[in-house]
Amino acid sequence: MPSESEPKRVLFVCLGNICRSPTGEAVLRGEVSRRGLDGAIEVASAGTIGYHQGEAADPRMRQAAGRRGYDLTSRSRQVTADDFRTFDLIVAMDRQNLADLREIAPPPGERRAELRLFSEFLPPGSPEDVPDPYWGGEQGFDQVLDLVEEGAARIVDHLTDNEPRDAG
Ligand code: 4NP
Repeated sequence: MPSESEPKRVLFVCLGNICRSPTGEAVLRGEVSRRGLDGAIEVASAGTIGYHQGEAADPRMRQAAGRRGYDLTSRSRQVTADDFRTFDLIVAMDRQNLADLREIAPPPGERRAELRLFSEFLPPGSPEDVPDPYWGGEQGFDQVLDLVEEGAARIVDHLTDNEPRDAG
């Protein structure tokens, strides 16, 4: 990875930007760091709704992530059309998020970002959506972490043109 090149910028997007996408952000950042790619890949997150604008991640999500050594530091913000011009990769956590992102995306000639569904980075047979844990029980937050940890390495591979990996 040539360190003199511009960093690749990736944005995780879910509904509220307080559970799934902050987790994507923290886990991917950990994977980037583990692989010595700090400075080469920048990670952020946003939500399709602005309802939780400015809020820290959900305490239940922060606690579950903390048990695995991740510190969720994001503050919720709503995704904008401009994000398609400044990020290289936008990752939707579920199919509704993907549909909502397509609604606000600028025309192809005016955008930089590639738009992908998170589960495209998971092994075949995995769930298509990272389930929304907000209204459910404790295990939903661990499931988010399981899925995000499983896909993170392949996202880094994608950003570093180091693919395909064996889909397992
Ligand atoms: P997230 O979870 O999209 O993973 O951040 C949710 C957070 C808040 C709400 C829904 C989902 N909400 O309706 O406020």
